[in-house]
Amino acid sequence: MSRIVYVNGEYLPEEEAKISIFDRGFLMADGVYEVTSVLDGKLIDFDGHAQRLARSLSELDMGAPATPEELLEIHRELVARNDIGDGMIYLQVTRGSAGDRDFAFPDPEKVTPSLVMFTQSKPGMADTPAAKTGIKVISIDDIRWGRRDIKTVQLLYPSMGKMMAKAAGVDDAWMVEDGVVTEGTSNNAYIVKGGKIITRALSNEILHGITRAAVLRFAQEAQMEVEERNFSIAEAQEADEAFITSASTFVMPVVEVDGTSIGSGAPGPVAARLREIYLDESRKAAI
Ligand code: PDD
Repeated sequence: MSRIVYVNGEYLPEEEAKISIFDRGFLMADGVYEVTSVLDGKLIDFDGHAQRLARSLSELDMGAPATPEELLEIHRELVARNDIGDGMIYLQVTRGSAGDRDFAFPDPEKVTPSLVMFTQSKPGMADTPAAKTGIKVISIDDIRWGRRDIKTVQLLYPSMGKMMAKAAGVDDAWMVEDGVVTEGTSNNAYIVKGGKIITRALSNEILHGITRAAVLRFAQEAQMEVEERNFSIAEAQEADEAFITSASTFVMPVVEVDGTSIGSGAPGPVAARLREIYLDESRKAAI
């Protein structure tokens, strides 16, 4: 059975879904996106993703194709129509098609943004074996643009980073700028030292992760110490633990950085506890 996807107001089998070749998402990477996870058929952190989407759109002077209430409705409809238990919903908004190629943005009165959404089923996503073994990362230079806080579809360099990681026989890459870690290719990066959770502070240099915000809130509620500051790869290699967060991986332990084992080389207690708290609390708050 083919998936039912959403394209500009219509629910269609994926083979029938079409977007113009002049769509600026296709020609200019002029678009933004969100990934929301689904557990037990319910949306995790939907409000956070809807708010970040609104911010991304506003930073790029792009119109909103639907209200947050309408977006919630479409998310739920896609979950139902595709019978998603565990998985993800991908949402993409582009500036639409002006019927030609032009660097200048089209008149928003004449060209409406495109909205595309689809599901990815991942049964048992929260019980992935990787959470028990942890993942390995390498470091790569961060050569992305200066507005990484906007969740744009310009993902060529993160894709190249994943390929560099694959070529090195590991799972992912942490990006480094001015001697300190910015973030992972598609996740936020953390280390733990002496029980303290250390992660880079928010700025235009990193994506403001929705999972990051929730995890730091839960950590503080659980009386765990959090310090928002830069750290280097050398400091990560000396840390007791390391981990990443994202909507698709939740809290995932990192056990090796550039060939050096972190701590005991196995997932540590802080990452394991945060993963448990995050999954428990998120399931409770899921809508
Ligand atoms: N990536 N940093 C980057 C560069 C990301 O692409 C992501 C998310 C994150 C974590 O954000 P959040 O916790 O809101 O998912 C941080 C998504 C999952 C993706 O591209 O598939």
